Amino acid sequence: MNRPLPSRSQAIGRDALLDNLRRVRDLTVRLCEPLRAEDSVVQSAPETSPAKWHLAHTTWFFENFLLIPYLPEYGPFHPRFGFLFNSYYESMGEFHPRLQRGLLSRPSLEEIKAYRKYVDQYMGMLLEAPDTADAEQIRTRATLGIHHEQQHQELLLTDIKHLFACNPLRPAYREALAPDGRASPPLDWLHLPSGMYAFGHGGGGFAFDNESPRHRRYLDEFSLASRPVTNAEYTDFIVAGGYRQPTLWLSDGWRKINEARWTAPLYWEQQDGEWWQMTLAGYRRVEPDEPVCHVSYYEADAFARWAGKRLPTEFEWEAVAGTQTPDGNFLESGRFHPQPVRDGAGQFFGDVWEWTQSAYSPYPGYRPPTGALGEYNGKFMVSQLVLRGGSCVTPAMHVRASYRNFFYPQDRWQFMGIRLAA
Ligand SMILES: [Fe+2]
Repeated sequence: MNRPLPSRSQAIGRDALLDNLRRVRDLTVRLCEPLRAEDSVVQSAPETSPAKWHLAHTTWFFENFLLIPYLPEYGPFHPRFGFLFNSYYESMGEFHPRLQRGLLSRPSLEEIKAYRKYVDQYMGMLLEAPDTADAEQIRTRATLGIHHEQQHQELLLTDIKHLFACNPLRPAYREALAPDGRASPPLDWLHLPSGMYAFGHGGGGFAFDNESPRHRRYLDEFSLASRPVTNAEYTDFIVAGGYRQPTLWLSDGWRKINEARWTAPLYWEQQDGEWWQMTLAGYRRVEPDEPVCHVSYYEADAFARWAGKRLPTEFEWEAVAGTQTPDGNFLESGRFHPQPVRDGAGQFFGDVWEWTQSAYSPYPGYRPPTGALGEYNGKFMVSQLVLRGGSCVTPAMHVRASYRNFFYPQDRWQFMGIRLAA
């Protein structure tokens, strides 16, 4: 999974950049430490990738977009890795089919770790070299590579969760942290009056190109829920027969839940009248006060209709979230699971990505960057929907109010949840 480009002026200073690069690269490796070599090879679904592939592809990004074009003394680590670990950049040549990533028992995990060290060493050389005419472009691309790697850190964890959920042994990626015992407060509503509001990246710090240009739109008055929908509330929808009432569902959604036989969120199972779920800490009961997650757009939309509400647009979401402090339960908490809302916080950031009803499309005046990196984002602006806010496995520094994530309406293996609007 890849995303768009930063503008040229947003790269950070060289020393901070190299330090940041090393910390992010190191974190990716540490996230793989609980895995056995066998865990890192398997691709459990078309939309997921093996951990080993994530380790290699993020490295390929630095090799092909920085070292090969900008470091003359660099020689590629392996002549075929460009084919194996290019994700979808047509401009960069042919690539290995996405659905066959799980067949790559070779190169070994040890070879991929050596590939990472090799590229990291040369990236240090590139960023520590005296500035040349390409210095700004190098920093811009390196910054993009860091944010690209953070996107893959999240994908790595969600893909491991999917893989382990397929295993009858129910392996735990890590031990569970003690629950903090919070209870979810009653739902409240945050009201905004009608008027003109500004959207998109306003400058300062990194942003992907799909967050620009900043522009204004008129919004009618609306209200947003003060927190995401909880497991308890979603269970009420299930018990009320929500999955059996066609009038609640979009046509594509009704077809999907019947073909796939969905009767609950992904990873939920009923045992002796109780709901259980797979988590990155293993198999356990569904906690009623936690935000519901692993629901598709179709399920989010049907729930909202059942509740007599609707999903927000991405602009309604941003108009409110832009006034909030972007803190929450992110990857750094180590919980890797959504938590009940904290008192007084709207929980707009972290825990679960929130589906919006907005189609993922370009902002007025958007132009994809030229060259191969123009494929990062613009070509995906059809048939997907925008999600906002980040999740419990998103790195904290990766998210902001203008951040636009996007997935297909049937996707639900990411930590995807629901916030109601009215
Ligand atoms: Fe990628």
